[in-house]
This record gives sequence, structure tokens and C-alpha cells, in this order.
Amino acid sequence: MMANGKLESLRRQKAEISLGGGQKRIDKQHESGKLTARERLASFFDEGTFVEIDVFVSHRSSNFDMPSVHAPGDGVVSGYGNVDGRLVFAYAQDFTVLGGSLGEYHAEKIVKAQKMAMKMGVPLVGMNDSGGARIQEGVNALSGYGKIFYNNTIASGVIPQISVIMGPCAGGAVYSPAITDFIFMVDGTSQMFITGPQVIKAVTGEDVSAEKLGGAMTHNSVSGVAHFIGKDDRDTIALVKELLSYMPSNNLEIAPPKPTADDTNRIIPELNDIIPDNPNKGYDVYKVIEAIADDGRYFDVARHYAKNIVTCFIRLAGSTVGVIANQPKVAAGCLDINASDKAARFVRRCDAFNIPLLNIVDVPGFLHGVGQETGGIIRHGAKLLYAYCEATVPKVTMILRKAYGGAYIAMCNKELGADLVFAWPSAQIAVMGADGAANIVFRKDIKDAEDPIAKRAEKVSEYEEKFNNPYRAAEMGYVEDVIEPAQSRQRLISAFDMLESKRESLPAKKHGNIPL
Ligand code: HXC
Repeated sequence: MMANGKLESLRRQKAEISLGGGQKRIDKQHESGKLTARERLASFFDEGTFVEIDVFVSHRSSNFDMPSVHAPGDGVVSGYGNVDGRLVFAYAQDFTVLGGSLGEYHAEKIVKAQKMAMKMGVPLVGMNDSGGARIQEGVNALSGYGKIFYNNTIASGVIPQISVIMGPCAGGAVYSPAITDFIFMVDGTSQMFITGPQVIKAVTGEDVSAEKLGGAMTHNSVSGVAHFIGKDDRDTIALVKELLSYMPSNNLEIAPPKPTADDTNRIIPELNDIIPDNPNKGYDVYKVIEAIADDGRYFDVARHYAKNIVTCFIRLAGSTVGVIANQPKVAAGCLDINASDKAARFVRRCDAFNIPLLNIVDVPGFLHGVGQETGGIIRHGAKLLYAYCEATVPKVTMILRKAYGGAYIAMCNKELGADLVFAWPSAQIAVMGADGAANIVFRKDIKDAEDPIAKRAEKVSEYEEKFNNPYRAAEMGYVEDVIEPAQSRQRLISAFDMLESKRESLPAKKHGNIPL
């Protein structure tokens, strides 16, 4: 029989460790609107399923006053549990212990969680709340970061990796999240930057607040570093769980289907009227997505960034589909540098995790302008072309209206590997719009005409008749079918159903060379 003293000792030690940096620091954490690491994990995992590992690990630093410093768990809580019944690994940095700073053994705990998640083939979620490299541990802390980055990279495309920024995330610490698949930030209480406001002030003289420099909205809407924003810790964690529901556990599986009562043959009459008569007028592509999706639900990725393109997950007949859609309501749905980056990354996430792609096209072209050209639209646009060509998952393209020039190709036309291309009767598949085309190819006819205005109108309508419709492309097999918009859901579900057994492989190579 176990001596009582031993059990008591175990219980006392665990109770002490579970208090992290102590009640005072926990209170401070709560006062600043944040949950503690353990509260975050409890809110993330299905009740009672979280199993902590490396509970007793602590630092071994002998620098400065560290030998006398007690650091429960070395400032990070790690382990595994179930989320909606599926196994997930997670770690949460504990700001109450040495500011969640990353020392040698703190890093080892994260690396162990990374390796175990890889072996088990399940997602890894990292909750970041840390002062960065533990200053007292010097190069050992830097080495720890290096190991984490390395494992992030090896795991990339094998298991979903999700980073949740729930406090400060400074210095090189931002690069582990940046390598992962998705970054969530909490509004008002999280920041990411390589150097903070004080250093920037000293070096460049610029005055900027931490929030403006690296707050949640800055990274969601301006830099594009983060992809989701939650109102507070609990709201953000709920969003992470929702995202996980759309993802498979690893690259050899498919996302778990979610049964629905939504009729797979549902007709959507309102889609027959959604395209405005005026070709220069915008409309909201979210309405199309909502109408098509199971139960009208979509899960937006990077909603606040490059709003001229929408990237989101939906379900069709219960299965996850990744949607890339031009948004005619914003900048006429043009493809620009940021939209190309956003869409290319989304295509690669979906392809890595066996999520079929639905491309909804209404694009007048790549955005013109000196800023775009000198900013490298050629290089950034090429990422999207590359990502689509390389993607071997089922790809279905549905052209609603404009599909002009290079942007028509870049939105995954037939040659980029679309398995099926559908067009609505309102589709215009051409090198450019009729107005622009008339100005170039019929310039001389128009100039020499007795009535140039009438001649121009005649040439515009001639061009429209010939190319600004889907039928020339359909005659040549570039479009498989011209469909009634109202039948879109039915036709897409049937298409993805047919494509379920698609198998396609790329030639053996070390890796491609995407134009980064
Ligand atoms: C050791 C740290 C620490 C660190 C914070 N603490 N950061 N201990 N190493 N990096 C400790 C504090 O001493 C304090 O301990 C406790 O954590 C809470 O910190 P506070 O400053 O009281 O909290 P707050 O006012 O909320 O400010 C949080 C903060 C600030 C903004 C994160 O602490 C800060 O600026 N820390 C330094 C950030 C930084 O420069 N890190 C290095 C980045 S370079 P006590 O005992 O008083 O409670 C880097 C390189 C990585 O990370 C390269 C990888 C390639």
C-alpha cells in the first residue's frame, strides 16, 4: 500500500504546479482580460479529456539568479485531448511563469508536442502568450526557437498547425506562428512584432502604439499576417474549434463529413437574378456562397484582408470544400498583389489537406497601376497560377460573369487543371471587356467613320456578340456546360461527388520552386 505521505506529496506538487506563477499573477492575467494557460486549454478541449504531459519539467539554467527561481512547467502547459471527439495536441504558454518566456526546457516541451502530434497524425494548436526568448538563458533559448521552427516546417502539409496569439508575441517568436497554417489573434490583448514600439522609436524615430504596430486588426487587415480575430479568449478558442471541424486530422485523411438536412437538389431561384444588368455594377459574392452552401454557412479565412477576393470553407452535401471567389463589390473583384497572395496560400492549404476547390469567377483582370507593377504583381500573381497548377485535389470552376484575360486563367481555367468548368449564361469569357477591345482592335475603323460614336457602339456590340458570352468557350470545350444559376448547388454537389475518386500525381521531384 502506498504510504500516505507519497500521495500527499504528489497531490501537493501538482496543486502547486497548477497555480503556475501564483495567485497574484493569475489575478493580474484576469485583470488584463486574459484567461490563464490552463483555463484556455480547458475551454478548448472537450470536458475532462485534456491530459497534461511534462507536468514536472522545469528549467535547468544556472545563470544569474535562475537557480533560485521556481518555474512550474517552465512556463508552458502542453498535452493532448479531444476536440469534438477528435484527438488534438496543444500547448499554451503560461504568462504567469517568467512572462511565458521561452527557455531551453520550455522549448523542449513544445518540440515534444510537435513530434507526438506528427507521429499520431493529428493537429497541433499553439497558444502564444510570451515575452519571447528567456533573456537569462541566452543562446539556449534561441536554439529552442530554432528547433520549433524546424519542426513547424517538417510538419507543414502533414498535420494542420494552428497558432493562437493571446498576448505579446515578440521578436523571433513570431516566426513559429508565421510558419503554421493559420493564425488567430485576440482583439485588444494580443500583439505580434519583431521589434516593439520602444525599439522602433529609438531606431527610426517613429512613434507608434503597440496596437497599431502589431495588434489583431493590424495583422488581420493590413499586413495579412493573421487570418482570424476573436473578441476575447473564449470567442477566439471557439473559432479555432470551428476551423478544426473543416479540416482532416492529417494529409492522408479527408475532413470529417457533417451530415445535413439541406436538400442536395435544392434549387435557388434568387441566383437567376443576382447579376446586375449593368456590367459595371457590383454585387455581393457572399450571397452566392451562402445560397450554395449547406445550411447557408461559410467559414471565412482572412476576411479582413484583400477583400476583393473571398477565401472560405463551406460544406456541400456534408463535405468540406474550399471556396475562392472574386468579390465584385470590392475593387470590381480585380486580382491584385494581396488578393493573389491570399488566394494562393488558401489553395495550397486546401491541396495539402485534401480539400476540394470551388473557384467562383467574376474578374475583370489584374489590377492596373504603377504601384502594382513595381510592387511585383507579376511575381505575386504567379503564385496563384502556380498554386492552382500544382493542386491535385478536385477543382471546379464556376464563371458567373467576367472572366477576362490573364485573370481568367489565374482563377483556374481548364488549362490550369479545372476538372469541370461551369458558366452561367451571364458569363463573358474574353481577352478583355468589349469597350476596351473596341478601343484597340477597331480604333482605325472608329476614327475613320462618319459617325465615330455610332461606329464604336456597333463594334462594341459586335465584339460582345462574338466573345462576351460563354457559348464560344463552351463550343470549344473550355467550358463543360452553361448552367442555370438556380441549379448551381445541385450541379456542384453532383460534380464534387463524381470527382471524389479523382487521383492525380505530379512528377517525382524534391520540391517545386514556387515564386515566393
Ligand atoms: C525573461 C521575462 C521576459 C523575457 C518578460 N519577462 N519577458 N523574463 N525573459 N523575455 C518577465 C518579466 O521580467 C516579469 O517578471 C514577467 O515576465 C512579466 O513581465 P512584465 O514586463 O511585468 O509584463 P508586461 O508589463 O505585461 O509586459 C510584457 C512584455 C514585456 C511586453 C512582454 O515583459 C517585455 O517587453 N518583455 C521583453 C520582450 C523582449 O524583448 N523579448 C525578447 C525578444 S527577442 P516578474 O518576475 O517581474 O513578474 C527574441 C529573440 C528570439 O525573442 C529569436 C528567435 C529566432
